Amino acid sequence: MDYFALIDKLYSTRCLDKYEFAELIKNQTQYLSEYLFEKSRSKAYEYYGNNIYLRGLIEFTNYCKNDCLYCGIRRSNSKAQRYRLTKEEILLCCHEGYGLGFRTFVLQGGEDMYFKDKIIEDIVYSIRSEYPDCAITLSIGEKTKESYQKYFDAGADRYLLRHETANPAHYEKLHPPDLSLKKRKECLYNLKEIGYQVGCGFMVGSPYQTAENLAEDMMFIKEFEPHMVGIGPFIPHTDTPFHDRQQGTVDVTLFMIGLLRLMQPNLLLPATTALGTADPLGREKGIKAGANVVMPNLSPIEVRKKYMLYDNKICTGDEAAECRFCLQRRVESIGYRIAVDRGDCKKL
Ligand code: 5AD
Ligand code: FES
Repeated sequence: MDYFALIDKLYSTRCLDKYEFAELIKNQTQYLSEYLFEKSRSKAYEYYGNNIYLRGLIEFTNYCKNDCLYCGIRRSNSKAQRYRLTKEEILLCCHEGYGLGFRTFVLQGGEDMYFKDKIIEDIVYSIRSEYPDCAITLSIGEKTKESYQKYFDAGADRYLLRHETANPAHYEKLHPPDLSLKKRKECLYNLKEIGYQVGCGFMVGSPYQTAENLAEDMMFIKEFEPHMVGIGPFIPHTDTPFHDRQQGTVDVTLFMIGLLRLMQPNLLLPATTALGTADPLGREKGIKAGANVVMPNLSPIEVRKKYMLYDNKICTGDEAAECRFCLQRRVESIGYRIAVDRGDCKKL
């Protein structure tokens, strides 16, 4: 099979079948990656120029009722030191972020039952009133459609919920029995129906994952047409059942970013913190493979180390301003610029 021709086909038709994706991924090489990234970079440029969008990440609670086998803040990890930010603390993060040029705030947390709908609505409403020119993104897991609607009505406009893997049997191997891919997909479709800009995503190199599984992720994304796709390598966390599993590779993660850019060129694709953790230049490499979003941490420095989804997470000792300017330096060092606006998804 001519893998270079498959990349050409994806470039010109935006489409491959599952078998073709799987073969491509299985046969990723340095040559193939370079060939792909030249094309994926030019696609990103066509849609977004040399702009890299900023999202300020506020990790406001690490309590979680779920027990995902890969995740450091899973319920069963009794070593995790739990914390919650107050509404006032969250608003302070936004205040600092606004001054640093952030026009998108991402409120991310575990599935923490303390934050009832009323509390989330109140927080969202307060941010919306104070920062009418900012996008508000929620990333707080699976909720009912009614809850999603309430947050939307309070002023949230985007929602991140990774599907984690598009293969149901693989999903079961990564999650406890009370979670299912079917439910996860229902949530994603509900979010879209309500009118959110939606981000899904998956880990690369998670335990039991095959190239076919990654091909299935591509097919799901083709069908779902999200606004954003967050992907990063799986990185083991010491206090989880997957502590001794192998880390996902940076090369395959970058390859997936390139493939996504060609399949759906208007995507918002973050160069993730996990990518930056697996490789000191991972985020720069992500941008060169077609990523166009970075998400510096805006959480208060006292809680950073407690939001440990995986080992050795970067940026846990740095102030918001340090991360903001560190990323600006990194982005500019490779010929891109930080865009200081909401950074909405372009039309296909
Ligand atoms: N390695 C990499 N990514 C992880 N996530 C959770 N645990 C890990 C891990 N060990 C990702 C999941 C989740 C997102 C918030 O972080 O994909 O959706
Ligand atoms: Fe946080 Fe570089 S982005 S220190």
